[in-house]
Amino acid sequence: MDFSLIDFVRRLPKAELHLHIEGTLEPEMMFSLAQRNGLILPYASVDEVREAYRFSDLQSFLDVYYAGAAVLQTEQDFFDLTMAYVCRAIADDVRHAELFFDPQTHTARNVPIETVFAGIAGALRQARSDYGFSSRMILCFLRHLSEEDAFATLDEALPLRAEYADLWVGVGLDSGEVGNPPEKFAGVFAKARELGFRIVAHAGEEGPPSYIHGALDTLRAERIDHGVRSEEDPELMRRLALEKIPLTVCPLSNLKLCVVPHLREHNLAKLLRSGLRVTINSDDPAYFGGYISANFIQAAEALALSRDEIVQIARNGFLAAFVTDDQRSLWLRDLDRAASL
Ligand code: ADE
Ligand code: ZN
Repeated sequence: MDFSLIDFVRRLPKAELHLHIEGTLEPEMMFSLAQRNGLILPYASVDEVREAYRFSDLQSFLDVYYAGAAVLQTEQDFFDLTMAYVCRAIADDVRHAELFFDPQTHTARNVPIETVFAGIAGALRQARSDYGFSSRMILCFLRHLSEEDAFATLDEALPLRAEYADLWVGVGLDSGEVGNPPEKFAGVFAKARELGFRIVAHAGEEGPPSYIHGALDTLRAERIDHGVRSEEDPELMRRLALEKIPLTVCPLSNLKLCVVPHLREHNLAKLLRSGLRVTINSDDPAYFGGYISANFIQAAEALALSRDEIVQIARNGFLAAFVTDDQRSLWLRDLDRAASL
């Protein structure tokens, strides 16, 4: 184990841009929330939960992940979940995080969308005032559901927009990718764009490069979440580099979901060295075995990333963040300082 690498990574200021807040539900919290809410889990112990985290693909993970999210019922539950993530992120010197959240996972269980917003935003606002932690919220539509359902979710959330204007800046697209191309959501993303929301979308995690084209051309995504299959399309690679489209790559996620058999075979370094704006993120860290620093460290070790490349990836995170240029400059200055120590 290279302790100097661990130390170097931990103290680099970072931005996390691909993080599902529901994916930060650690087994210990799953048990404590189940108890608080009078629910019985289908697991006898925390160890048994971790034992169940053996996934063969994205869907095998999503089945476990949506079942686990059922313990989230009250505003306090969403607050506690979010605050626990923030504390871990601060320990990794994350300065800014853009959190995905999936309202449909909760409204389908009759949890009001107001409860979801209030709990997550309450923790993020407290983190801002107590620790100076910067954040944004990105509402994701579940792509295995219909576009009509996505429209209904947007309509349900819109009355909350003014109350959460400091945090809720964008919409995204997640859940089972294959068979649910971006074009299925053309209408609802057009509406979100007209309303002035920032746009991101998962694409090219398991789905083909054509889904990345669809996310860019039809949804007008400003960032691509994952995007690792772009490598299969040289023309797309040139476009992503030329247009500086950020890819929010999640190495441990790709490993756990068998997108790659080993981190040594991850194409992150190849994408970076082809001039793409690659960032590193943790996706669903409670399920995939590591938060953002663990993703940096394990990718750096497996792919022999240089210190300069590690700093470039951290820099890309700030370059791709939905913040003002003044704020961005302050973090980039801090990053340069930390990198030169
Ligand atoms: N929801 C949570 N994690 C996801 C992932 N990696 N891909 C698609 N949807 C998700
Ligand atoms: Zn994701």
